[in-house]
Amino acid sequence: MLFVCLGNICRSPLAEALFNKHIEEQGLQDKYMSDSCGTGSYHIGEQPDSRSRANASDNGLIYAHNARQLSIDDYTEFDFIVPMDATNLTNIKKFNPESNVPVELMRDYDEGYEGSDVPDPYFGGDQGFQDVFDILDRSTKALLEKLISK
Ligand code: 4NP
Repeated sequence: MLFVCLGNICRSPLAEALFNKHIEEQGLQDKYMSDSCGTGSYHIGEQPDSRSRANASDNGLIYAHNARQLSIDDYTEFDFIVPMDATNLTNIKKFNPESNVPVELMRDYDEGYEGSDVPDPYFGGDQGFQDVFDILDRSTKALLEKLISK
């Protein structure tokens, strides 16, 4: 499972951490593996945004990730790619049009919000980070439940 956003410092590393939390809660660490990356290169090597990490910590989640950019190998190393928004979905498909790997929006797993973007909290205020946390907590949980039921 590869979660993708633009910078790989706000949304996708949090999606990865929350997906991992749900995996651990179900004792399924041996069965699923996840990572995250960005379509952009601006933040390569950085840790997640300090505002994202502070908000996650307030919600009981501590995590770390080294930001990296989407690479061509990701299309063969992962069997499912999950972009945070429609722009990233388009860019993932454009970067490797030959690939048949499924690419499906994160919020297609957020009941009632299918087809919506996970809003980018980068230029917003504190509430944006909590909104993203709540969206990703329920979407990654629903995604794992769907995988388990297959
Ligand atoms: P992310 O958020 O894609 O959720 O990591 C962003 C991080 C950085 C920028 C934009 C979005 N930026 O423009 O630097």
